[in-house]
Amino acid sequence: MNILILGGGGREHSLAWAVKQNPKCDRLIVAPGNAGIAWIADCASLDIMDGGAVVNFAEANAIDFVIIGPEAPLAAGVADRLRDAGILTFGPSEAAARLEASKSFTKEICDAAGAPTAAYGHFTNADAAKAHVRKGDIPVVIKADGLAAGKGVIIAETEDEAIAAIDDMFGGAFGGAGAEVVIEEFMAGEEASLFVLCDGETVLSIGTAQDHKRVGEGDTGPNTGGMGAYSPAPVMTPEVEARAMDEIVRPTMAEMARRGTPFQGVLYAGLMIENGAPRLVEYNVRFGDPECQALMMRLGAQTLDLLEACAEGRLSEVEVTWADDHAMTVVLAAKGYPGSYAKGSVIGGIESCPEDSFHMMFHAGTAMKDGRIVAAGGRVLNATARGASLREARDRAYALVEKVDWPEGFYRRDIGWRAL
Ligand code: AMP
Ligand code: GLY
Repeated sequence: MNILILGGGGREHSLAWAVKQNPKCDRLIVAPGNAGIAWIADCASLDIMDGGAVVNFAEANAIDFVIIGPEAPLAAGVADRLRDAGILTFGPSEAAARLEASKSFTKEICDAAGAPTAAYGHFTNADAAKAHVRKGDIPVVIKADGLAAGKGVIIAETEDEAIAAIDDMFGGAFGGAGAEVVIEEFMAGEEASLFVLCDGETVLSIGTAQDHKRVGEGDTGPNTGGMGAYSPAPVMTPEVEARAMDEIVRPTMAEMARRGTPFQGVLYAGLMIENGAPRLVEYNVRFGDPECQALMMRLGAQTLDLLEACAEGRLSEVEVTWADDHAMTVVLAAKGYPGSYAKGSVIGGIESCPEDSFHMMFHAGTAMKDGRIVAAGGRVLNATARGASLREARDRAYALVEKVDWPEGFYRRDIGWRAL
């Protein structure tokens, strides 16, 4: 089987690593890939937002299966173009990707499906939004409706902060994503994520995780794409997971199918859990990054069988083989991230990291320059390890981090603190 993975971050490195271990995988191409992916797959430069170009590339390279990593090509309909061309594809249609691309759409689906989530209002002008805030409770959550790379959410602790956030969003701080705004009730509790494959009809849980969105230790400082993650999430007990599946995920998937836009791919349900009751924070229509790196460490080669069954509508025929294990990933980022940071610094020591089914240094933002690995993004490396306990996984992941010689980088030392 010739496989094409779209994307070039740590998520896609971990997907490539897992898929590559499956004997069914013949040729593996990742577009655009990165320096770490280039060791295990062919990297191709391809505009992954251009559905026509992706179809042409897949046909020219006799690709049998395409796995789409990031949300942007999904929201742009790249999966539709591939399926129209008869190419087996993992990832939702443009219509189903609205579960991530529009927060007001997700809220409307939750209403229709009866899925528990924060109370909300949806606004297309600043005056109405401000009036809503003035008569409501504080803290309150202000969200740009569209895709804003994880940055379009403001938790306002005062009314003034909320009003300023509304002005920013309608003033264009998040571009077109902020032309509409959702204002939500603030939910207390502990956050965790549930990852579920759905083939349009059948749903299959493939694991839980918790990430660390803030840049600083003790969950301080600005939000990032995620500074580390571990799987499973202890707060997601079998009872909480069963409730999340029954009350949130299944009704949502059924509502999407009822509307004629069935969801096929991985649904990432961000949940807030309070007193054993899960409520939906948000959906994403792709694997989390860096949650995927921890999940792939645990799932390994069976990932390809699961994703293929999902794309072929055969999820009812497969099951996940679980080991009683834990995985953790620690993100190494360039100093300055999530603000501005320098690119091009040389990273040493990666070659001394063990690479096996318990340890992997996944690359997120790296490139090769003059025969050396250099930083090429904000989040640069993901030290990922597995163990019999979360503590063992953590010790192994941090041992990997210690091998890296990169003075221009930093990482959080407390990944997993809540669970440990
Ligand atoms: P989102 O992009 O919707 O996941 O929001 C980013 C982060 O903001 C979430 O991971 C939560 O930590 C937080 N958040 C979003 N909505 C709420 C809410 N209604 N109540 C509390 N926290 C929230
Ligand atoms: N780690 C959060 C995300 O992928 O959205």
